[in-house]
Amino acid sequence: MPRKIIIDTDPGQDDAVAILLALASPEEIELLGITAVAGNVPLELTAKNARKVCEVAGRADVKVFAGCDRPLAHTLVTAEHVHGKTGLDGPDLPEPTMSLQDQHGVDFIIETLRAEPSGTVTLCPLGPLTNIATALQKAPDIAEKVQEIVLMGGAYFEVGNITPAAEFNIYVDPEAAEIVFKSGIPIVVMPLDVTHKALVTAPRNDAFRALGTDPGRVVAEWTDFFERFDKEKYGSAGAPLHDPTVIAYLIRPELFSGRHVNVEIETQSDLTRGMTVADWWRVTDRAPNAMFMGDLDADGFFALLTERIGRL
Ligand code: BDR
Ligand code: CA
Repeated sequence: MPRKIIIDTDPGQDDAVAILLALASPEEIELLGITAVAGNVPLELTAKNARKVCEVAGRADVKVFAGCDRPLAHTLVTAEHVHGKTGLDGPDLPEPTMSLQDQHGVDFIIETLRAEPSGTVTLCPLGPLTNIATALQKAPDIAEKVQEIVLMGGAYFEVGNITPAAEFNIYVDPEAAEIVFKSGIPIVVMPLDVTHKALVTAPRNDAFRALGTDPGRVVAEWTDFFERFDKEKYGSAGAPLHDPTVIAYLIRPELFSGRHVNVEIETQSDLTRGMTVADWWRVTDRAPNAMFMGDLDADGFFALLTERIGRL
């Protein structure tokens, strides 16, 4: 039985690859819908980009919803410096022809979870946690419907990418992250510690291009664009494909390893706002609330990704 999931996202080239990986994996994943959130770029663009990505996969039938247009308590911080003006710079993609659903993304999450049996839907947040936290606040009864939240966000050893202390998704809406991490729902975290090992090196990029398909070329061109930032800034061998790790985990969890530890979110300090304070060394008696990943089999991850993109 494929696992039912909702992808909550702010595309973003790496979000886009995650969506393609899910759509290419119907045996393992049943995508109930995509909810867009403000993050890498404002909501209007992330909601449009999500639809462009579905159309790259030839899947105009996927339901895409617009969710929250700003974080719970702060003004929106965006990342055009990484993802470009549209959020999805790189290949020339046509304007989407499929329409956005009328329902608000948060209401879609609530309604969908209420209609499913307990513990059967996995939420996959790939951006700031605003939609998920808002849904949990509005309808606390949905928590028991969630099987697991598998999210990209935070860091321990790699610390921060938007401030010295914080990773982008958590930094943009730390109040939302705090609600999610205190929800009691089982959580799996893909932090920068993992995603900075998922680097699209030149041979890995060539492998996408060599698929000889449109989706393969588009993925190669997205990562071409996305990598200029990381290469310049970090001197890394290529772009980290952060968000697809979330979907890869659903398909091949054995590619990842980590620790079940306590993770708290800093919301008060100006200096470290959005920091994920993970008790990696278990030096407190705070109860573990998340499986915090630390490592991945990068070759296995890219083999899976390339094979699946090749199916589209
Ligand atoms: C995260 O921030 C975004 O820019 C990426 O899409 C990813 O979700 C990495 O910090
Ligand atoms: Ca993202």
